[in-house]
Amino acid sequence: MTLQLPQPSYLRPAPGPQGLPVVGNMFRFSADKNILFHFIDLWNEFGDVVHVKIGSLKIFVVANPEHVHHVLVRHATNYIKGNGYGGFRLLVGQGLVTSDGELWRRQRRLMQPTFTPRAIVGFFDMMVATTAQILDRWHEPLRSGRPLCMDDAMAQLTMSVISKAIFGVDLGSGASGVSEAFQAAFAFVTERTLSGFPLPLRIPLPSHRRFIRNLDLIDSFVEKQIRASRDQPNQASLLATLLRARDPETGQPMSASQVRDEVVTLFLAGFETTARSLTWAWYLLARHPQVMAKLTQEVDQVLAGRLPTLEDLYRLTYTRMVVDEVLRLYPPTALLGRQTVADDMIGGYPIPAGSIVMLMPFMTHRHPAVWSHPERFDPERFQPGMADLRPKSSYIPFISGPRVCLGNNFALMEMTLALAMSAARYQLVETNVDEIGFAFRGSTCPTAALHLQLRPREGR
Ligand code: HEM
Repeated sequence: MTLQLPQPSYLRPAPGPQGLPVVGNMFRFSADKNILFHFIDLWNEFGDVVHVKIGSLKIFVVANPEHVHHVLVRHATNYIKGNGYGGFRLLVGQGLVTSDGELWRRQRRLMQPTFTPRAIVGFFDMMVATTAQILDRWHEPLRSGRPLCMDDAMAQLTMSVISKAIFGVDLGSGASGVSEAFQAAFAFVTERTLSGFPLPLRIPLPSHRRFIRNLDLIDSFVEKQIRASRDQPNQASLLATLLRARDPETGQPMSASQVRDEVVTLFLAGFETTARSLTWAWYLLARHPQVMAKLTQEVDQVLAGRLPTLEDLYRLTYTRMVVDEVLRLYPPTALLGRQTVADDMIGGYPIPAGSIVMLMPFMTHRHPAVWSHPERFDPERFQPGMADLRPKSSYIPFISGPRVCLGNNFALMEMTLALAMSAARYQLVETNVDEIGFAFRGSTCPTAALHLQLRPREGR
């Protein structure tokens, strides 16, 4: 008779749903429910580390800040992007978001100096001018009492800002068809990634043919912009900066195809995330008139009816607190995955090499061990100094660790300016907005359009 010793806790497998032989939990992930809700349900049912088997694939779902910090910061080299980003590579190639290892390190070293808080100040005037132009365009329709579709308005604003920053041209009007091509191609690769069973692109399905057409359009646009930038090497655009960049260690420039991958990456990383976040900001402001009133009061005090200066930006502290709280409740990257290189342990449970670890900023931001009344919209949580009192990696809209979002300072400046300048010109009339649901489709999207009635403010 062999004695059955109790297993040491560090060898106990993480809890999770039973699943069937061979297929595991494949049928649990029904397509009629959004993927984010599947993961939220797992977290609710099994706790902070959940193990789900799908076929031979081992997936671990993690939301506790301590575990998130382990994956993103302390053991970051053991958690790579891996195969899960294959769908996105069809569109962005080996850009900064999808690359790993030495290529990623070299590219990050090259691109980091362009995105420091000091460097992005170079985009301040462009952001103010672009936002002011777009706010002018709202004036007529709003004066005649028509509601504004905030999803479209915010998409147009962020498309204009990011295309001017990267290429020095405004794609926000949609006239060229290029912005649509970017959006459609991004929607295609997102859908393909989330579907779990992508068919080879060589199968001539209508959706595949459309994607290839869009990719061609994007590539010829980027190629044209690269040629134009080479002719004007002193341009201030991000594209021209990338063309001028030299690796500090080797003195080498980037290849043309690497520049292509990086600008397509920046475009996609910087457009939809910011547009969605601003739409969620309007949704929350419309449902919390007291927060809107406090934001407007600050804006009136700081700007006194003029366009913002850089000094003003740093004085818009409450507006920035609103931005931070919006990104807590609706982080655009509500879910993200990593692949383990070597065996590891998270929270006392073994994580074998080759597993997928799914991080859930959406739940980390609502983790009851950190956030009181997590569902409540309360910008006061972000009073200066409060962040130091919270556990590391408990607030991760831009994630944490070496792969933290390169454009975080850019996005925060853009969002703070957009909200402050809008509040300076327009007043929210309608505050009785119905609840809108959310779903994860590459970013955290509202499930219905947000139409708001705004009114030009007296004398503005
Ligand atoms: C509210 C706006 C934004 C949010 C919430 C956001 C969030 C994120 C997150 C969560 C990641 C990590 C993704 C992962 O590791 O899987 C990321 C990476 C990245 N983001 Fe952003 N982002 C925003 C805006 C921007 C903007 C405006 C730009 C560029 C102008 C940008 C450029 C990038 C790049 C290049 C990376 C890859 C960094 C690396 O792996 O080294 N993002 N972002």
